Amino acid sequence: MLKVGVIGVGSISDHHIKPYLANEQVELFALSDINEARLIAKGAFHGVTELYSDYRELLKNEAIDAVSICTWNNAHAEIAIAALEAGKHVLVEKPLSMTVKEAEAVEAAVEKTGKVLQVGFVRRHGDNAKLLKTFIDNDELGEIYYAKTSCIRRLGNPGGWFSDSSRSGGGPLIDLGVHMIDICWYFMGKPRPVSVSGNTYNKLGNRSNIKNLSFYKAADYDPHLSDVEDLTNAIIRFENGASILVDVSYTLHAKQDELYVKLFGEKGGAEIEPELAIVAEKYNTILNVTPQIDNLSFDFEKAFQNEINHFVSSCLDGTENIAPVSDGVQVMKMLNAIYESAKLGKEVYL
Ligand SMILES: NC(=O)c1ccc[n+]([C@@H]2O[C@H](COP(=O)([O-])OP(=O)(O)OC[C@H]3O[C@@H](n4cnc5c(N)ncnc54)[C@H](O)[C@@H]3O)[C@@H](O)[C@H]2O)c1
Repeated sequence: MLKVGVIGVGSISDHHIKPYLANEQVELFALSDINEARLIAKGAFHGVTELYSDYRELLKNEAIDAVSICTWNNAHAEIAIAALEAGKHVLVEKPLSMTVKEAEAVEAAVEKTGKVLQVGFVRRHGDNAKLLKTFIDNDELGEIYYAKTSCIRRLGNPGGWFSDSSRSGGGPLIDLGVHMIDICWYFMGKPRPVSVSGNTYNKLGNRSNIKNLSFYKAADYDPHLSDVEDLTNAIIRFENGASILVDVSYTLHAKQDELYVKLFGEKGGAEIEPELAIVAEKYNTILNVTPQIDNLSFDFEKAFQNEINHFVSSCLDGTENIAPVSDGVQVMKMLNAIYESAKLGKEVYL
């Protein structure tokens, strides 16, 4: 049995709490949030009585084996290090941290304590992603040398802490790009990034003037607060010559939202978003293959359940962690280098 605490009980915490409750090997034991009203309401809703407004007090509770960190990005590294040093296993939401320095400090703490730290790269846990990984591991695509990914929101700056760079570390790149870049890089076999060239634009702000079209807003939405970029594009080059082309936005004068992940290999290709598809060549003929599975797209609920189950088995049975801290560090290096490149207006070498 794994006794778990969840730190930060805002929106995404529901996608940790629900799967923990559904896992028979887990006892949801404690919750923490600096927002006391939210903490008390969440505790009452789930019947959890160990409630802490200071996460450090939660970590002192020796009954707790593991924590999920679902706070704003600026607290991820600090809480992860404190939790590891308190002897807890850690599942930390993406991004691992706001800076490479922080990410490396978390990595050092993992090495020192030997505890499990899983980064919340939830897209790796989608059923469609797991199936595609089986194809890739069996060399159906050959060497993947190019990936192209896009996550365009025409109106979707959530405001609140998301658009306050001191708490988020950036805009759509660190929030959405982290997923898009990670999933491409993971399928490409995690080659070492060597250089990036990126551009960020802060042209449209949060567009709170737009009427008659609703969009997701953070709990503490403030139309006057937005110092993050609204569009980022980048090309990332790897040691083996492979490359990723990415663009992500919170807002853009686009006709519609767009989400895609396309992989191109020497033997075949694949798309994982908007839905799983495999491109093959057999007997001098190009085949577009549609796997017959329940859900070709990313199923948010199922992927979070898979992610939590994976974390629980890594903690209890030593199952190999598919999203280790070293991956979080590499992804942070790519994200930070893109911001750096955009600031300098030139290519940056890692
Ligand atoms: N995996 C995904 O697809 C996904 C989706 C959304 C958000 N996230 C990540 O989850 C995290 C939380 O996002 P959210 O949308 O739930 O935000 P949110 O604002 O809804 O919730 C965050 C909560 O953390 C609390 N908090 C902040 N600092 C704290 C601290 N030091 N100690 C305790 N509580 C603290 C806040 O009071 C708030 O209740 C972010 O890192 C975000 O990037 C991941």
